Amino acid sequence: MARNTRQYVCQECGASFPKWAGRCDACGAWNSLVEETGAQSAPKGLGTKRGRAIEFVGLEGKSERPPRQITGIAEFDRVCGGGLVPGSALLVGGDPGIGKSTVLLQVAAALSAGCGCAYISGEESVDQLRLRADRLGLAKASVQLAAANSVRDIVATLDAPDAPRFVVIDSIQTMFVDNLDSAPGTVAQVRTSAQELVRLAKRRGFSVALVGHVTKDGQIAGPRVLEHMVDTVLYFEGERSHQFRILRAVKNRFGAADEIGVFEMTDAGLTEVPNPSALFLADRQGDVSGACVFAGMEGTRPVLVEIQCLIAPSAFATPRRAVVGWDSGRLAMLLAVLEARCGLAFAGADVYLNVAGGLRVQEPAADLAVAAALASAVSGVPVPPDAVIFGEVGLAGEIRPVAHTEARLKEAAKLGFAQAIVPVSRNKGKNRRASEAAAKGMELRRISRVDEIVRLFGPERAIGEERSMERAMNG
Ligand code: TYD
Ligand code: MG
Repeated sequence: MARNTRQYVCQECGASFPKWAGRCDACGAWNSLVEETGAQSAPKGLGTKRGRAIEFVGLEGKSERPPRQITGIAEFDRVCGGGLVPGSALLVGGDPGIGKSTVLLQVAAALSAGCGCAYISGEESVDQLRLRADRLGLAKASVQLAAANSVRDIVATLDAPDAPRFVVIDSIQTMFVDNLDSAPGTVAQVRTSAQELVRLAKRRGFSVALVGHVTKDGQIAGPRVLEHMVDTVLYFEGERSHQFRILRAVKNRFGAADEIGVFEMTDAGLTEVPNPSALFLADRQGDVSGACVFAGMEGTRPVLVEIQCLIAPSAFATPRRAVVGWDSGRLAMLLAVLEARCGLAFAGADVYLNVAGGLRVQEPAADLAVAAALASAVSGVPVPPDAVIFGEVGLAGEIRPVAHTEARLKEAAKLGFAQAIVPVSRNKGKNRRASEAAAKGMELRRISRVDEIVRLFGPERAIGEERSMERAMNG
């Protein structure tokens, strides 16, 4: 029998408890339990009724590739794995004001030339949406606008044979199902609303894009199950102070995850950036110490960015380590390696590390570039501005090869870089020839230990000290 009970639901993971507690027992989050009243029925087993037999098939067989709706916004299509798949659900998360509504309105407008598109907002009025469309120069596009937040009404409207082929729901946190007692934005509401909308999209074969708010630590608000329910999860990131934005696929059932699309926020909306490396390197000052260019990969695409380090004497007992755009744990590790293996001293110094332009670098391949920038910041010797660097640094000070050497070198050659500092490749034959071909006229310097980079750009004194230490230990 269903009865109305009071329960406390964790807003982070969706676990429910009969009693309130300060900490969720399931995921360990603090202060995340919120009271929700809802019908809770006792779990039932299967009972005695027998089901039908399901049919198994082999792995081999004819199956169609999903058709794609191409939006014509190439950066968006790339992130989706080559266009939207009809009947699929897309979740777009991101900080407030980053441009989620803008990009989805642009996508809807781009698609509306070929098929029906609807934009349903629970946050803004129709007038606000029209003003935005006008600003974007899209007022002529045939997108159907509505301000609504009742899932029952939305489903009733869209459950028709002539339903639009692309529907935007902005945002899932403002939608509510009137069967539930809890407020919009709670786990139960978000989960049920998304479930109903995704189910309808699958049934009617249209693609639906859900906007999701993020919590202060960057996760999509509501339970993690939201990410499991949809086919594709995109995060819209970027520093608010910078004009460009990165759309990143973190899950995609129809394409590669980790793919990125780069946009620039202008006063006429988001414009595509087909060559992000040129943008990230645009404001670079040549010949300054503490900076170097890292040839990174974002998904399947090479992206060159500048890594900047500044080292200043510290006024505090515990020196500062400030990192923007990279992992601070990784910086601590690299500082320790440089201190222990190369004799550089950072103990009394504040270290600032910045990935210029606001990109967030996640690969360990950036280690070597950061080491070069650090060494150059200590010595004041600039890294040649026409050099790119990449490689992973191990705790023993060894440089490990990284994936996609060819693609990184090709991109660097394309942008006119003349030298590359790269790891010694493990595989001497084919890979080596391929990367040499990709480097097209670039001078390749292969190194195997991090002290070689310190010898190139670091202070001579540090290496001297290490030598004398070695001698003392040996003798
Ligand atoms: P918006 O799409 O409303 O963000 P979200 O839906 O993620 O909260 O974007 C709002 C921001 O974008 C706002 O700060 C203004 C800026 N913006 C522009 O710079 N140019 C434009 O053409 C538009 C429409 C917005
Ligand atoms: Mg918005």
